[in-house]
Amino acid sequence: MDIATRLIHTGASVEPVRGALSVPLYHSSTYAQLSVDTFGTWDYARSGNPTRNALEEAIAGLEGGTVGCAFGSGMAATSSTLLLFSPGDHIIVCDDVYGGTFRVMTRLFSQWGLTVTFVDATDTANIAAAIQPNTKALFLETPSNPLLKIIDLRAAAILAKERGLLTIVDNTFMTPYFQRPLELGCDIVIHSGTKFLNGHSDVVCGFAVTADPDLGQRLRFVQNAFGAVLGPNDSWLTLRGLRTLKVRMEESQQSALGIAQWLYSQPHVRKVWYPGLPGHPGHEVHKAQSTGPGAVLSFDLDSYELTKKVLEGVKLMAFAVSLGGVESILSYPAKMSHAAMPSEERALRGISDSLVRLSVGLESADDLIEELDRLMNS
Ligand SMILES: Cc1ncc(COP(=O)(O)O)c(C=O)c1O
Repeated sequence: MDIATRLIHTGASVEPVRGALSVPLYHSSTYAQLSVDTFGTWDYARSGNPTRNALEEAIAGLEGGTVGCAFGSGMAATSSTLLLFSPGDHIIVCDDVYGGTFRVMTRLFSQWGLTVTFVDATDTANIAAAIQPNTKALFLETPSNPLLKIIDLRAAAILAKERGLLTIVDNTFMTPYFQRPLELGCDIVIHSGTKFLNGHSDVVCGFAVTADPDLGQRLRFVQNAFGAVLGPNDSWLTLRGLRTLKVRMEESQQSALGIAQWLYSQPHVRKVWYPGLPGHPGHEVHKAQSTGPGAVLSFDLDSYELTKKVLEGVKLMAFAVSLGGVESILSYPAKMSHAAMPSEERALRGISDSLVRLSVGLESADDLIEELDRLMNS
């Protein structure tokens, strides 16, 4: 079944008693049991909630997985996934990773004895060179945040399988609508569902999905044991957001392409990063592993003063943390998504003080361009 159809029908069967088309919202922390020997499907809401379960089935189905776990944030999904590993284990991470992921790995899991090596994973040889005897997994983001670097997921997954490693992919920017890492050989997909999956800037949530039954059981165990679960209300809102993922992604992507092309021709723009532009170094690899470049792009302006003027001057776009909402969001990685990264690390990765990230929403692309033009060129 095509993903457009699955977005409408997965995880949302008609409620059997009253025939509701919308999954009911179960605000119950516990469930009455009939016998001491046999508990029903639901016992306690940290372990399972029917509304959350519908959302988990939906995300698992969309990613081509068998188990989906919903968490209270994208970071809770990442952290819970990292709990699959043990002190002494080593993970290889792409260098241009979300700042919060960098922070949790280098400041929390490091205390717990997990070690990480950051590599430029756009070249699979760099990943191979970083493998140590205690390496257990690759943690990748493609396109990455904020420089939209592209990693060849098929090649990374083949290498990982040969060396007995898991491949974990943060698929937040693409969503399963454009890219499905499990189908490319990867083992676990992570999401900040706060972004495009929910899509309305009104929920913080996260997911981990796998097709492997053993990994699925282990993730479910961590979800219940560690307990960073998503509540029913946010599960319901996210289920509703998911229904329109296709139209939101298609529309925002079309505008993003137009804006990226316009930015590319601008005198005050030093560089544009968008995998949909043919000049992007990962353009071909991205095309081979996804069905679209998505709705996030970054650009570098020719001075800090102009960057500040644009960020502080927007009226239509929001100047805010986050991405993936129906409203366009302009953000400043150096002080927002990557503020948790020391400035030397940011500089090493090319995250300059004049870098701006734009998540394109559903406004008219012409209006968005007009706003940028006014701020950049007058
Ligand atoms: C790529 C990526 N992964 C993970 C996260 C963390 O998600 P959350 O903010 O929902 O915890 C973010 C948040 O910006 C992100 O951009």
